[in-house]
Amino acid sequence: MTTYGTTNVDQAGTELVDVNCTVNGQTAHFRVPAHRTLMDALRYDLGLTGTKTCCAEGECGACTILINEQAVNSCLMLAAEVEGLDLLTVEGLGAGSSCGMNDLQESFLEAGAVQCGFCIPGQVMSAEYLLRTNPEPSVEDIREGMSGNLCRCAGYQRIVEAVQRTAAKRAAR
Ligand code: FES
Ligand code: FES
Repeated sequence: MTTYGTTNVDQAGTELVDVNCTVNGQTAHFRVPAHRTLMDALRYDLGLTGTKTCCAEGECGACTILINEQAVNSCLMLAAEVEGLDLLTVEGLGAGSSCGMNDLQESFLEAGAVQCGFCIPGQVMSAEYLLRTNPEPSVEDIREGMSGNLCRCAGYQRIVEAVQRTAAKRAAR
């Protein structure tokens, strides 16, 4: 069951919601209009612009984040719906590493999978989810698992290679 944040109404009559959640391991609080999407709240209220706005209707995957370890399109959720939940955005993946990236992000660079870069945060978050749920994916598993993420530069083969590289690195640990 979804728990919503506390609702208030400002002087102009706009319904506002107070939301408390965890973002990238840190406690977060924000007050947003009740209709604001999670994607917009991340970008404009929390300043986490790694999450990209593209189609805004669940078709491209550019806004993918993890919520309670599940991959979601943040454009399809309201910010008010994440009360008490645990969010991971692309900014949080490399937290604690000296280069600011985790092994998956490094693999995207090593495989030459980044062209214009616009789709990459969403690709990385979907790949992270895939590898957490299927640590040794086949090529077909990767294509299937990443099928919700579109790349207009059509760098799909190198994205598959980046995921394979990461799986190999993690298996070797
Ligand atoms: S911006 Fe969310 S799926 Fe395209
Ligand atoms: S790298 Fe340009 S859209 Fe994917």
